[in-house]
Amino acid sequence: MNLKYIYTPGAGKMPKYLAGRNKQIEIALSAFEALNEGEVPTCIAYSGYRGVGKTVLLNRLQETAESQGISSYHIEIREDGCLIPRLLEHCRDFLNDHSGIEKLKNVFQKASGALKSLELSFSPENREFSISKKNSGSYVAMYFSQSLENLFEAIGPIAKAKGQSLCFFIDEFQYASPDEMDAFLGALHRTSQLSYPIIAIIAGTPEMIKKMYDKKTYIERLFVFPDLMLLSLTDVGEALSVPGKKAGLSYDKAAVKAVYKATGGYPYFVQVYGQILCASLKDKDMPFKITESFVDDQHDNYLKQLDDNFYKIRYNNRSKSEQNFLFAMASLTLPCNTNDVARYLGKTNKQIAPTLAKLKSKGIVANDNGLYFTVPGFTEYLKRHPDYPKQ
Ligand SMILES: Nc1ncnc2c1ncn2[C@@H]1O[C@H](COP(=O)(O)OP(=O)(O)OP(=O)(O)O)[C@@H](O)[C@H]1O
Ligand SMILES: [Mg+2]
Repeated sequence: MNLKYIYTPGAGKMPKYLAGRNKQIEIALSAFEALNEGEVPTCIAYSGYRGVGKTVLLNRLQETAESQGISSYHIEIREDGCLIPRLLEHCRDFLNDHSGIEKLKNVFQKASGALKSLELSFSPENREFSISKKNSGSYVAMYFSQSLENLFEAIGPIAKAKGQSLCFFIDEFQYASPDEMDAFLGALHRTSQLSYPIIAIIAGTPEMIKKMYDKKTYIERLFVFPDLMLLSLTDVGEALSVPGKKAGLSYDKAAVKAVYKATGGYPYFVQVYGQILCASLKDKDMPFKITESFVDDQHDNYLKQLDDNFYKIRYNNRSKSEQNFLFAMASLTLPCNTNDVARYLGKTNKQIAPTLAKLKSKGIVANDNGLYFTVPGFTEYLKRHPDYPKQ
């Protein structure tokens, strides 16, 4: 295998080996098994910070579900929060594949009566629905809850009668607008009460869980919430060695430890480090064993790569007040509390609240028993930054 392609830093890029996720995968596998045995399992909501591997896990699970005959539909919610029209399109696809034309029309017409803020048009010849927003102003989901429930209630018996289960794989679920989240969770709740084989496997930042709890009190009975954590030392070893082996690359224990120490077990960073090591192997004969000193020699390149790309984007895309907030945090011991940041900036808690809210919504800062950065090494990056205030 070409050394260039062994490691895969990049948003949503499937690693050659998905390390340290067996437990999380197991939960989904037993849900698929239940579906295939005609049972309706609990939905799953994977949460974790940016770059921890939510998208790749979700994609891997979708592949597995498809290979097991489960009708699987993928949605990535963008920051505009638009979920319902895409859900409807997938429901249409399911009905197109699994029901007669009259049924398809009835189901949609019944549901669409309430979807007043959406345009639905049906062309019987080619069994096509087109779904679009009437205009963004009227895209207020007053009627979503009832209509989505109606739709799922209509699809449920068809799915059950055909023995064909459905799973929605939804990424970035924290971006779902409150009304859409409310409607979707309500509809899933209803299908689970009626034992229809429709479930969702979703992923999002930890903020997602709070939003879901804010919406529905029964959420802990409808979902399980596995966390996606940083990789352990063993996981990092596997993330490096398993794909490396195919190209004749191996790592000694101290080398793995050095990568683990540098990356904090953050999956994206592990891929970056691996790629940098490979780039420096061009003139080496294979097989080759990577040692601690070989890793250490590349440490500056690794940091430069992160500084020039990953950290820089996180920093440069912030407003001046957000950047000052980040510098304040970097100068404090983390986790810190909001009072400390406010005091450092000479402001009140109320004055800095909007900036904190923005940083949280962008996934840069988390507030969970104190404020901290969601990616390892960000404090050090900020301290290396030329604009970091001289103490
Ligand atoms: N379990 C893993 N083992 C090895 N590498 C992984 C693992 N999970 C993710 N990666 C790598 O980490 C990087 C980020 O993965 P991914 O895009 O899935 O994260 P994410 O949590 O979805 O990030 P974001 O919140 O920004 O969308 C990718 O380069 C991927 O190859
Ligand atoms: Mg992602």
